[in-house]
Amino acid sequence: MCGGIAAYKAVEVCRGLVDAGAFVSPVMTRGATRFVGTVTFSALASEPVRITLWDEPEPIPHTRLGQSADLIVVVPATARLIGSYAAGISSDLLTATLLATRAPVLLCPAMHTEMWEHPAVVDNMARLRQRGVHVVEPVAGRLAGGDVGSGRLADPADIVAAAVAILSVPADLAGIEAPATPGPVAVPGDLAGVTALVTAGGTREPIDPVRYVGNRSSGKQGYAIAAELAARGARIILISTVELAVSRGIEIVRVETAAEMEAAVLARAGQAEVIVMAAAVADFRPKEIAPHKLKKGAGPPEVVLEPTPDILAGLGARRRPGQVLVGFAAETASGESAEGDLRSYAHQKLKTKGADLIVANDVAAPGVGFAHDTNAVLIVGADGYEAEIPLASKAEIATAVVDAIARTRHDRTRDMRPATNEEQP
Ligand SMILES: Cc1cc2nc3c(=O)[nH]c(=O)nc-3n(C[C@H](O)[C@H](O)[C@H](O)COP(=O)(O)O)c2cc1C
Repeated sequence: MCGGIAAYKAVEVCRGLVDAGAFVSPVMTRGATRFVGTVTFSALASEPVRITLWDEPEPIPHTRLGQSADLIVVVPATARLIGSYAAGISSDLLTATLLATRAPVLLCPAMHTEMWEHPAVVDNMARLRQRGVHVVEPVAGRLAGGDVGSGRLADPADIVAAAVAILSVPADLAGIEAPATPGPVAVPGDLAGVTALVTAGGTREPIDPVRYVGNRSSGKQGYAIAAELAARGARIILISTVELAVSRGIEIVRVETAAEMEAAVLARAGQAEVIVMAAAVADFRPKEIAPHKLKKGAGPPEVVLEPTPDILAGLGARRRPGQVLVGFAAETASGESAEGDLRSYAHQKLKTKGADLIVANDVAAPGVGFAHDTNAVLIVGADGYEAEIPLASKAEIATAVVDAIARTRHDRTRDMRPATNEEQP
């Protein structure tokens, strides 16, 4: 813990880690002790708080702590700590421990917006990320002194989840058999080192310089999936028609039309092990774009539409080996057989597009799909996988989609692994 106003939230993180089964050794900077008492952490962790290099009965506390840790979580990480750590300066027990460890490190920065956006802090963070330090990005919200902006410590529950994610060993690496029946893969952190390309938002197909043919997609589901993939360790390329808040480190490519979306996706698809086509790409676009604004006086124009390129099918046809391709199907199934309709649409789309997974939703149902913060989906896989997620937040839907992706990748890697002697007949 460092000395920032958010230090009080480290109490909840400490409790969450203990509840998750971690053995926690609390280390505080002198600054942190000005914000929260040591007794709270000692009691929660059942371990004395350590503050200094010099008072310990053990002679070299930082190396013992650094060498024995499976993970070091710094919450909150102050601008001072980030700068010292990036520069490799060991000036107290915390920075000495950070330099004396080979364990993964999870930084949870918190500070005023001006500090968070200061070029020195931005550079230091970039340097640390490059070295593989994990980061739970601060969020936008109320800050100390009543200010509002980015730099607020992430939710303690998200920090605990990120820590658990880093500590989780993928089942196949641990030599654990994959579950035989479909169930949550739930190995967050399982996508470390994977590049994922995600599309989000609805395309706009111009009629003239001011008007367009569009759809109601808000991009929220695509962004939630990008955030979930990033939280589980993936590098994200997000190709989007909309601008929503996004964590740093996610590469965003802005596009507007289906043609721009296609060019941006195809140019980057080769880099990606996972592609999630969550964008609502127009199926039709005006054949001709009027060079000048169409005048009202000229009467209603006749707009002739032509089909747009089928990006998902194009990706399905030229997929690189091992790539997991996920498509979305926004349908308006209705009536008593709505669920059956949705299922058959989804299966049809799996086949025609050559996708591994289709996430289908009935956008006519209340609270589902476009512009809502909630969604309800049916996920079907080419391997027979099926999961139905009733009305839930888009973040929860994103978790289910990424679980399905992780499962598909896991099964594929297992299938591609050479048989060992024992497995040979
Ligand atoms: C009331 C108060 C709140 C502070 N909040 C933060 C903060 O949220 N983030 C930050 O980086 N520094 C903050 N600071 C400044 C740090 O406390 C200061 O840079 C200190 O040297 C950090 O020391 P440490 O990193 O060793 O704990 C705050 C200072 C005060 C007085």
